[in-house]
Amino acid sequence: MNELDQLVQAAKTAFAEATAVADLENAKAKYLGKSGRITEQLKALAALPVDEKKARGALINVAKQQVEAALADRRQALADAELAQQLRAQALDVTLPGRRRGTGALHPVGRAQERIEAIFGSMGFDIADGPEIETDWYSFTALNNPENHPARSMQDTFYVDVKDSQGRWLNLRPHTSPMQIRYAQAHARTHAGAAVMPDIRVIAPGRTYRVDSDATHSPMFHQVEGLWVGENVSFKDLKAMYLNFIQAFFETTALVLRFRPSYFPFTEPSAEIDIMFERGPLQGRWLEVSGSGQVHPQVIRHMGLDPERHVGFAFGSGIDRLAMLRYGVGDLRLFFDGDLRFLSQFQ
Ligand code: PHE
Repeated sequence: MNELDQLVQAAKTAFAEATAVADLENAKAKYLGKSGRITEQLKALAALPVDEKKARGALINVAKQQVEAALADRRQALADAELAQQLRAQALDVTLPGRRRGTGALHPVGRAQERIEAIFGSMGFDIADGPEIETDWYSFTALNNPENHPARSMQDTFYVDVKDSQGRWLNLRPHTSPMQIRYAQAHARTHAGAAVMPDIRVIAPGRTYRVDSDATHSPMFHQVEGLWVGENVSFKDLKAMYLNFIQAFFETTALVLRFRPSYFPFTEPSAEIDIMFERGPLQGRWLEVSGSGQVHPQVIRHMGLDPERHVGFAFGSGIDRLAMLRYGVGDLRLFFDGDLRFLSQFQ
């Protein structure tokens, strides 16, 4: 091996030993810098006789190119190593399970309400919505509730510290029955002057409030009001319609109804509706699900209708109670605790 080959070999070794870019630049200076070993060789050419210069110069240039090539290779290798190191440091484990966004779902009471709306919708009922903060007139007076009736007492009803234009405290509606009046009034106005007023067929589901709290009562609960008023409706329509609804809601025909005489100021006669399952875990027990009755003539008048022509039937059912029965939930408060371990079972 001649001395130029050795020089190239030494440079390659020096480059290979450089493990950082700075080391490599130092090693480069030793061979290719101003007073580097290759540069010294080129400078030494000047002292040679002319006829030797050319051949010797060509040899040194070959050696120089080899050193430069070795340097370029090593630079590339160091850059590759650095990139690989960076990638390793920032590595993602793509096999880790992702963090999923929780999927939302309807609340079981909301689901029950949607079922109720779908069933009554299929029977041609409109779905109406109304205020939860009500006036005394809509919650009580229009519904033929005598001034001293216990339903008006401070014990049952939440009042709002604001008075209406009649000087009476506003209330958080204790039932959805005010919607009977609100909806019928709007309907009567819309069809005023018509020879024949189309029947009113509406349900009004929503939140209701009472000063009450135990396993089957919550201060906020849900009701669905139903109203059917026309010139040709009778109690049997209420009965058939409610049976149809309740069997659809529970998805069974093995279910019977009972109308038990009762009292509400706004219906006469009035009845509680009880249901009994003929099969399943609740079999054989009468369960109260609704108040109902023929709309009182005084209430028909407050709707802006003529009690001599218009007869109506109304009911008010507890949506939470229906949801409890449908899903087999024993304590109403579970629905409103917001515990996802409970709620996610209904997804
Ligand atoms: N509003 C009554 C209640 O809350 C239920 C009801 C509605 C009764 C309609 C008769 C007619 O108990």
